[in-house]
Amino acid sequence: MQENIRALREKTLAALREAESSRALYELKVGFQSELKKVMSGMRELSKEERPAFGKLVNELKESMEEAFEGRAAEIREKEMQAKYAAERIDVTMPGRKFRPGALHPVTIVKNQLIDIFAGMGFKVYEGPEVETDYYNFTALNTPEDHPARDMQDTFYIADKLLLRTQTSAGQIRVMEQEKPPIKILSPGRVFRSDDDATHSPMFHQMEGLVVDRNITLCDLQGMLAEFARRMFDSSTKVRLRPSYFPFTEPSVEVDLSCAECGGKGCRLCKGTGWIEVLGAGMVNRKVLENCNIDPDEYTGFAFGMGIERIAMLKYGINNIRALFENDERFLGQFR
Ligand code: PHE
Repeated sequence: MQENIRALREKTLAALREAESSRALYELKVGFQSELKKVMSGMRELSKEERPAFGKLVNELKESMEEAFEGRAAEIREKEMQAKYAAERIDVTMPGRKFRPGALHPVTIVKNQLIDIFAGMGFKVYEGPEVETDYYNFTALNTPEDHPARDMQDTFYIADKLLLRTQTSAGQIRVMEQEKPPIKILSPGRVFRSDDDATHSPMFHQMEGLVVDRNITLCDLQGMLAEFARRMFDSSTKVRLRPSYFPFTEPSVEVDLSCAECGGKGCRLCKGTGWIEVLGAGMVNRKVLENCNIDPDEYTGFAFGMGIERIAMLKYGINNIRALFENDERFLGQFR
């Protein structure tokens, strides 16, 4: 009996020295307890006189082993904590991850700038639908079916009389139907044309302007565009109007700005002319006013429409419109 107790003590102490983890320690404890039980069950075989001494030995074993387990557990816990600290160690001297903020797309930058400039002159923003009816995109703008001017813009049709708007001018009609003069609106948005080369994309953005009131003249248009040019480019930028044709304006003009690249002397960008064409404009055609129930004898107006990509290309010296749609980060990152 005493021998059994001694052996269990020796065996357990030896195993304790080898246990390296809380898990191993736990298993060892479970094993020890079941062996202790077995030893204790031997008590039945002992005589009444022998039992107290045996009981004392067992208790001593129990207590000393409890202590031994506690002691080893503390050692292991300490070791495991040290390992955990080492594994979770943070190097506070390590350089941080670079935070890369996004940036506005150049088309958005120019659009916002345009809105800023014109909002300062009292324009309100109106955004019309991208899917338009034939009526708003063409007919009400004095471009009935079979009108040759329809060929000026290759149109994507969605259904009979339903199309992707080819010009933000469609918004002019929607505004004039809803509001009566004085009207002063700016209408930015996407437009679509079946057109694709270095300076044309099937989807691009336009900014439309419309002013209708009493006594509005071509001089007002010219003065306002001059102010726009000075603010969008620089204070030396000059504006030139050339006669042109749009069905919804009469007279119509093509608006050129003096070439920012060469200052008007003539260079490759302006093809030696010193001028760069930037937008179409004109006095709102009487027929268009009539279509919207505005009396053309009482009110006159002007309208203009410009391509936002075109302005962005001129402003930033971009020579291929595709750069604006490819979403190449190396390109877009330059506008940060
Ligand atoms: N809508 C014309 C275009 O897309 C531009 C324009 C707008 C011309 C307003 C005159 C007046 O070409």
